[in-house]
Amino acid sequence: MTDKENKKKLMWGGRFSENQDKVLSKINSSIGFDKRLFRQDLNASIAHCEMLIEQDIITKNDGEKILTGLSQISDEFENSNFKFTNDLEDIHTHIEARLNEIIGEPAGRLHTARSRNDQIATDLRLWIRQSIDEIQILIKDLLTSIIKQAETNIDTIMPGLTHLQTAQPITFAHHLLAYFEMFDRDILRFQNCKDRLNESPLGSGAIAGTVFNIDRNYTSKKLGFERPMINSIDAVSSRDFAVEFTSCCSINSMHLSRLSEEIVIWMSEPFSFIILSDSFSTGSSMLPQKRNPDAAELVRAKSGRIFGDLNTLLVVLKGLPLAYSKDLQEDKEAVFDAYDTLKLCLMAMKGMIDNIRANKERMLHYAKCGFSTATDLADWLVINLNLPFREAHQTTGEIIKLAENSNRTLQEISLEELMKINPKIDENIKNVLSVENSVYSKCSFGGTSPIKIKEAIDLAKERIE
Ligand code: ARG
Repeated sequence: MTDKENKKKLMWGGRFSENQDKVLSKINSSIGFDKRLFRQDLNASIAHCEMLIEQDIITKNDGEKILTGLSQISDEFENSNFKFTNDLEDIHTHIEARLNEIIGEPAGRLHTARSRNDQIATDLRLWIRQSIDEIQILIKDLLTSIIKQAETNIDTIMPGLTHLQTAQPITFAHHLLAYFEMFDRDILRFQNCKDRLNESPLGSGAIAGTVFNIDRNYTSKKLGFERPMINSIDAVSSRDFAVEFTSCCSINSMHLSRLSEEIVIWMSEPFSFIILSDSFSTGSSMLPQKRNPDAAELVRAKSGRIFGDLNTLLVVLKGLPLAYSKDLQEDKEAVFDAYDTLKLCLMAMKGMIDNIRANKERMLHYAKCGFSTATDLADWLVINLNLPFREAHQTTGEIIKLAENSNRTLQEISLEELMKINPKIDENIKNVLSVENSVYSKCSFGGTSPIKIKEAIDLAKERIE
């Protein structure tokens, strides 16, 4: 490459007389990752060019040549014929250089009234906007799987745990639907993020705006933005939208990691609450009996990686003065990685939810352990003997102590023994001690009763439509 060519490829070589050092090109170059913004960059260029024609900033003749060139570039990209080279710094340089090869001199007019600073901010907003759509679809797919699994487990009774200790019997469907709520809020969170980022930086130039009579509303509308961003300095230098996006990814993946952890626990031999089909289990190279929940473990771990991406962005942005600094180039890999990782995790989680089968006998067995219906007993004392709850709690405690010391369940304590603790107790108390009764009696709004769960499932179905 001649010196002149070398400078030209830089877009900004005019005032420089020496060639760029190889190390500088390496650290400066972003094409390795910002090629993913190809489509967005091209669309933004098309909109910009149309606006320049519309506003008589470039001639119709030049403008049409540019549009034809861009359309050819689009085809080349679509057919995987577009050539990327490490010699050109970034996606903007690539498209402009190729345009120059195709149409010659008028290519140089496309960059009138814009800067790579407003270009990149625009591209990234467009890219995240579309990625949010894709993520929302994947979360919805997961929600559909959760509903299906819940439907087959409306009256599957399991121990509900607090502090990982038996608390009260619940239904497996109820437990799964708790995740439905979390993931549903995640969809909404992504939506809020999308609504807020959907403003156009294009036309802000490098920092100050431009002397040309541009129409920012035109490009904003053309690219599907709600409106042009109000402040050009903010437009080129803010990345809170990227932080918000990775933060939404982080929260979503945090929820996924909690569910993963439960899958790991439920699948463990001592629990054996669920069976994961072969298609989602892995074996051990040494231990032939093993059946491992690798996908769940990885989804659990990958959340750490996504939080790392969020942290990267926060640290890159912290203390960064206005307006654009090249530091901002470091935002992209974090955003892309959070997106790629989350997508994979969502698909893996859907796969697992589709492929688990509840071990109902086992769940029921453990639902009965640990005096899980003790609260039902206390509630019975409140309702039938009009005891204050505190006193009922005390009495129940005494009964549990009796059962525990004689290695019996609550149901195995005789009426005589109960009446020794409180003579007003009658045989009806036995009715509330079964886990089935316990579960069916929790009919409060949001409660675990299968009757309520059926309603919740119907509502959930409506909500994802
Ligand atoms: N690759 C750059 C980025 O990702 C594009 C903007 C470059 N702007 C500049 N003034 N050098 O941020």
